[in-house]
Amino acid sequence: MGKICRTVAEVCTTILMLELLMHPGEGSFASCDLYENHNSFSHHRELKQQTNFSQYIWDNAIDLLPQARNTTFISGVLHGDLNPNFYGDYVLQDSIYCRIVAQLWTELANYEAADEEVRAYANDSISGFQDCSVQLFDRWSIKDDGEDSYGVLVEDPVKEYTTYINETMIAYPPNALIATYACLKLWNNLTNELWEIVKDETSNPYRVWVNENRDDGSSARRQATQMDEWDSKYQWYDWSEGLSLFRSAMMNEINFFNHAGNSSKYLSV
Ligand SMILES: *[C@@H]1O[C@H](CO)[C@@H](O)[C@H](O)[C@H]1NC(C)=O
Ligand SMILES: *[C@@H]1O[C@H](CO)[C@@H](O)[C@H](O)[C@H]1NC(C)=O
Ligand SMILES: *[C@@H]1O[C@H](CO)[C@@H](O)[C@H](O)[C@H]1NC(C)=O
Ligand SMILES: *[C@@H]1O[C@H](CO)[C@@H](O)[C@H](O)[C@H]1NC(C)=O
Ligand SMILES: *[C@@H]1O[C@H](CO)[C@@H](O)[C@H](O)[C@H]1NC(C)=O
Ligand SMILES: *[C@@H]1O[C@H](CO)[C@@H](O)[C@H](O)[C@H]1NC(C)=O
Repeated sequence: MGKICRTVAEVCTTILMLELLMHPGEGSFASCDLYENHNSFSHHRELKQQTNFSQYIWDNAIDLLPQARNTTFISGVLHGDLNPNFYGDYVLQDSIYCRIVAQLWTELANYEAADEEVRAYANDSISGFQDCSVQLFDRWSIKDDGEDSYGVLVEDPVKEYTTYINETMIAYPPNALIATYACLKLWNNLTNELWEIVKDETSNPYRVWVNENRDDGSSARRQATQMDEWDSKYQWYDWSEGLSLFRSAMMNEINFFNHAGNSSKYLSV
């Protein structure tokens, strides 16, 4: 063991010296594990001076935007050719998503192990999601007994996504804001992007939906500001873990846009 360690250390030192010779002044020692920690530490410190946490996770997840635009729901709305059965199913699932996320914020607001500030933020986040579900439930005549019965089956994309949020939030309460940020941020970005295109297309049947659903980004900004404040004040966020959680949330969004209306059921319609 000792010998291997020393050998590895020697190899690393050699690589380090070679790298320095080849790229003077550049700190790219990523090929060498021994130096990776040190390197990523200073790399992160440097990053923190240039950007903030919310911007960092978004900037490093926008490679997923083309995939999100290309989903059944978003591209179907854009082209006006979304299967109406998919649309109906999707909207119902979305109303349940809002309903469950409101429930999760309520649970977090009452979670004794969570910091007071997290609980207060959770408490303030309940009403937005509650309004979203109540509006959709009213419109679609869905019974809501206030408990676990919604009158609509909860399909896998909603189950998986909300389970992911729930588990993330229980494991470490401040991460609830990361797990729910993809929804706020992507929604704002995509609906405004869609509006730019469909606003002049009065024959697109989904133009109405886009107009009703585009938002001004204030919810996303509120959440970003809170995460950035906690990050700089308390260092509550590990940036690389945060990025990986945020990318999982983005993938849940993409899965939702592709499958919440369960296209396979209606492919032949
Ligand atoms: C978009 O999705 C379709 C399948 O739904 C796939 O064939 C195509 O490669 C995708 N394009 C991009 C740019 O992701
Ligand atoms: C979240 O998870 C906890 C623990 O597994 C569970 O008791 C609770 O019902 C879940 N909440 C929701 C809204 O699914
Ligand atoms: C939770 O929010 C409601 C308003 O939505 C407020 O009336 C109540 O005081 C808040 N509770 C706590 C503990 O902050
Ligand atoms: C969506 O996000 C991308 C990447 O940050 C940005 O370039 C684009 O302007 C945004 N679009 C809208 C409408 O906000
Ligand atoms: C985070 O950075 C972005 C751009 O770098 C900026 O627009 C935003 O205002 C910053 N947020 C905070 C809370 O400083
Ligand atoms: C979609 O519908 C098909 C056919 O009814 C079903 O087998 C499949 O489990 C559904 N998938 C999801 C994600 O609900």
